Amino acid sequence: MNGKIAPSVMCVDFMNLPATLDAFQKLSIEYLHVDIMDGCFVPNYTLGPDFCRALKDATPIPLDIHLMITEPERKLDWFPFGQGDYVSIHYEATAHPIRALQAIRRRGGKSMLALNPATPIQVLETALDDMDALLLMTVNPGYAGQALIPRTLDKIRAARKFLDERGASHIEIEVDGNVSFENAVKMRAAGADIFVAGSSSVFKKGASLEHNTALLRQAIL
Ligand code: DX5
Ligand code: ZN
Repeated sequence: MNGKIAPSVMCVDFMNLPATLDAFQKLSIEYLHVDIMDGCFVPNYTLGPDFCRALKDATPIPLDIHLMITEPERKLDWFPFGQGDYVSIHYEATAHPIRALQAIRRRGGKSMLALNPATPIQVLETALDDMDALLLMTVNPGYAGQALIPRTLDKIRAARKFLDERGASHIEIEVDGNVSFENAVKMRAAGADIFVAGSSSVFKKGASLEHNTALLRQAIL
């Protein structure tokens, strides 16, 4: 199967949000990646539950809610998600990542466990039965427009092998951070399935969403 695209909604020009959502639908965009930051787990604030609700009312495209917040298991109820939506929580943000993953599934969502660049993949071992996808950060979470941490490419390859060897080939790998047209080719070759598209691809200045999306699709065949 071809790679899937999840544009990072924090990179949208909010004054043009409805038109951008329409364009995404026409382009058969697979997911909308919504970055939620709490100024504590990461040093920034971005989008919140109300914005997610507005998105759910405005478009049928499934959400991919990326929770960069501490103790997400206490806050899941604040967010609108259901069948077909992904919700990711960070391993580093809670003492109870498995509890949080289970709670996402109980609500009908697809559970995704996110790892910061410095967190080793071995921590996944006991969580495999409770996760539908793995989010590998390829930059430190918090901001758009950062440079790829090159060794995360090897980490994608190692994670794919780790999952396959443990009978978890069904677990998809999403990559987030500096997914440029060039880096996406390497990430795809390393085994990534879902590509968070931000300022270095779909929202790259100087070309249309349509043009940029076509380039990214080409890179992740
Ligand atoms: C944070 C965000 C960013 C960003 C990705 O989790 O998802 O990583 O928008 O896009 P780039 O790195 O291309 O700006
Ligand atoms: Zn993200």
